[in-house]
Amino acid sequence: TVIQWFPGHMAKALRLVKEKLNLVDIVLELVDARLPESSRNPQLEQLLETKPHIMVLTKKDMADPNVTARWLRYYESKGIPAVAVDSQHGQLSAIEKKINVVLKDKLALRESKGIIQQRVKVMCIGIPNVGKSTLLNHLVNKNVAITGNRPGVTKAQQWLKAGKLMSLLDTPGILWPKFEDQEIGKRLALTGAIKDSLYAKDDIALYGLEHFKQTNPKALQEKYKLTDEQMQLSNVDLLLELTKKMGFKEDYDRASERIIFDIRQSKLGRYTLEIPQLGGE
Ligand code: G4P
Repeated sequence: TVIQWFPGHMAKALRLVKEKLNLVDIVLELVDARLPESSRNPQLEQLLETKPHIMVLTKKDMADPNVTARWLRYYESKGIPAVAVDSQHGQLSAIEKKINVVLKDKLALRESKGIIQQRVKVMCIGIPNVGKSTLLNHLVNKNVAITGNRPGVTKAQQWLKAGKLMSLLDTPGILWPKFEDQEIGKRLALTGAIKDSLYAKDDIALYGLEHFKQTNPKALQEKYKLTDEQMQLSNVDLLLELTKKMGFKEDYDRASERIIFDIRQSKLGRYTLEIPQLGGE
């Protein structure tokens, strides 16, 4: 799902999320493990100040596991409980475990009052494509048609049982990504979180090439069968070379598209586009 965000949409999305926040005990804030900070909504942290929340790093199967471990430590050190998941697989117990820790006092209180049957009310929030529907479906363990999954579409709220502990709001909260910063924009575009047309394809491809040169040159070299000399080329020259190699003559856009596709599909292996800022770990 790629949504075009206009100021009116943003205001409405924020209002919907605010309304729903009142209904739940805890919020799962979904971010992409490959770019956790860049894939957070710029206003959500503020919005969640008074609500318990857990940071859920999705797509951990696509991210560099060492960096993911660092991100988890980073958030925990900032007092934000965090867990990494692969939304396409059962992640129920990992999330339940975190909820039990975060809501320990509340759950103990409920138990002391004899209301152990009451489920914890949970909602998922995140930018488009972060994996909200996928996670929701796997938590409730059946394929529920998650409709109304856009700002502007309203319908009756439903609660879905997940495991023994949770009741999940069936409509995840959707908020916009951080568009402001060019660097962040490129990360979002490379992973497919924002519309391709917002950025020039070659810029995104060049950004991707640079990232792999810096972090995993071997994967780049092997994927495109590059010689050591070719690996020394500037990013632009490398893109020109790859365009020829791919048989696209001078169609750099097509080659850029292919490179972006390969990176998105993890054809160059797992990767994380940003590491936690020093000091927080
Ligand atoms: P959203 O509701 O937040 O908008 O995201 P959604 O669940 O639709 O997921 C967006 C894409 O990300 C989907 O792929 C989905 O399969 C994939 N995805 C979600 N969570 C994970 C994860 O933990 N690991 C991996 N590897 N992929 C994940 P798609 O290509 O858009 O659709 P499809 O190919 O699955 O049909």
